[in-house]
Amino acid sequence: MNKSIAYRRIGSFGNVHEFKSYIEQLGIKLPVDEELQSPPDSALGKSYELQNGFRIGNRFCILPMEGWDGTLDGKPSNETTRRWQRFGLSGAKLIWGGEAVAVCPEGRANPNQLLINEKNVEALYELRKELVDHHQQSVEYSDDLLVGLQLTHSGRFAKPGPDRKLRPRTLYAHPILDKKFNINPDKAQLRDEEIEEIIENFVKAALFADEAGFAFVDIKHCHGYLGHEFLSSFDRPGRYGGSFENRTRFLREIISGIRNSVSGLQIAVRLSAFDWIPFTMGQGNIGQPESVGNYNYAFGGRGNTGINLSEPVAFLELLKSLDIELVCISAGSPYYNPHIQRPALFPPSDGYLPPEDPLLGVARQIEVTARLKKAFPELCIVGSAYSYLQEYLPNVAQNVIRNGCADFVGLGRMALCYPEMPGDILRGKKLQRKAICRTFSDCTTAPRQGMISGCYPLDEFYKKKPEAGKLKRYKKEYRI
Ligand SMILES: Cc1cc2nc3c(=O)[nH]c(=O)nc-3n(C[C@H](O)[C@H](O)[C@H](O)COP(=O)(O)O)c2cc1C
Repeated sequence: MNKSIAYRRIGSFGNVHEFKSYIEQLGIKLPVDEELQSPPDSALGKSYELQNGFRIGNRFCILPMEGWDGTLDGKPSNETTRRWQRFGLSGAKLIWGGEAVAVCPEGRANPNQLLINEKNVEALYELRKELVDHHQQSVEYSDDLLVGLQLTHSGRFAKPGPDRKLRPRTLYAHPILDKKFNINPDKAQLRDEEIEEIIENFVKAALFADEAGFAFVDIKHCHGYLGHEFLSSFDRPGRYGGSFENRTRFLREIISGIRNSVSGLQIAVRLSAFDWIPFTMGQGNIGQPESVGNYNYAFGGRGNTGINLSEPVAFLELLKSLDIELVCISAGSPYYNPHIQRPALFPPSDGYLPPEDPLLGVARQIEVTARLKKAFPELCIVGSAYSYLQEYLPNVAQNVIRNGCADFVGLGRMALCYPEMPGDILRGKKLQRKAICRTFSDCTTAPRQGMISGCYPLDEFYKKKPEAGKLKRYKKEYRI
């Protein structure tokens, strides 16, 4: 496969004006502030007050970023702890979930995913504390820091055993994904009684998260995992499929279970607000839709690659009616259309060359988030997919927040290689160019090859690991 496709590299722009004129050339809507506000007046530095009166200290959020590096019994390792410490020292005042934590062993996405249960509560307590302590050391004040935990069941993408084999638990027979991942739909499909058990596991997990001191739990509904798959279970018969009411029953039952058993814990939802047909490698290794037919399984989608926000709007309406205020917007899935979820110049090993300038992917998520924010001014909305903006991330982030197009700017990959970025921006410091994420996708390729995740190209800690050499050799062999 070619190394990348010829889109302009962000690092090649001399200044924000050149970047802006490229955006104009592309003909996309991407809001860019030419001037960055100085720290005391900066929109990004303003606090945000939640309905319960809690003030979150600034507008940066660290998105959940798992590391495939927990112990086999689901506890954090030294690498996990280091990542969370760095999330804390970033200066961002909202920590959206830390990373995906499985609510039961069968729901783990890999044998090193964190697992929440009675035996692991103490370790999760310590992990959160490490994050808060590092935050305190870095910015001296942590009363305005909000830390949640992301709860998940990996559903169709569960790989819970040390053999790393897919043990999918699905909700319906999928016309493309079953074939793509070699899934026998009759064996994989969850029965309603099994779903009820999973709901109980989420409720128990929320109790443990509360015990471990987290302020909120995110009931993950994104990226093709179980919560997200419910939303497209149009064909599933019974209580959990078909109508919008049935497809959201899973979430509603989890919420009512949590509310009946724990008080004071906030509930949040991360949502893939739109989805597309799965993509595959086409001519020239460039991504293309898996089929040309009319695809009907994309929540928030229209046909193969269109967007229709009518159901996502109904979903946010439902969240509002359930007194859920915290919502994080994402898109698609890293397993079947990574370019809409985490725009990158260099694809992960099992991906494809970007079929569009990755800036289009960034602009798409920003625009969808803005439309949802405008429709729900009372919800606290976090946006995703900013890392590809690199040097110009602050210029876009400031414009988005200034214009009320989102309440928080979420950082994913950038938080792995350059966790200090929010602090540097908020202090008005020059960005550290060498630390900026260039979207090489090693953080995705490594785990896809059974290694721990991390920023192998830029973070000295990972550069020195034996996995770095292994990854280099693998990439050379496959010329990705
Ligand atoms: C290595 C890696 C791990 C991730 N882990 C999670 C996760 O645990 N939960 C989640 O909701 N999203 C996860 N994501 C998605 C990110 O939170 C984020 O949505 C995505 O990277 C796009 O944001 P960015 O452009 O800032 O990277 C992960 C992404 C990467 C690359």
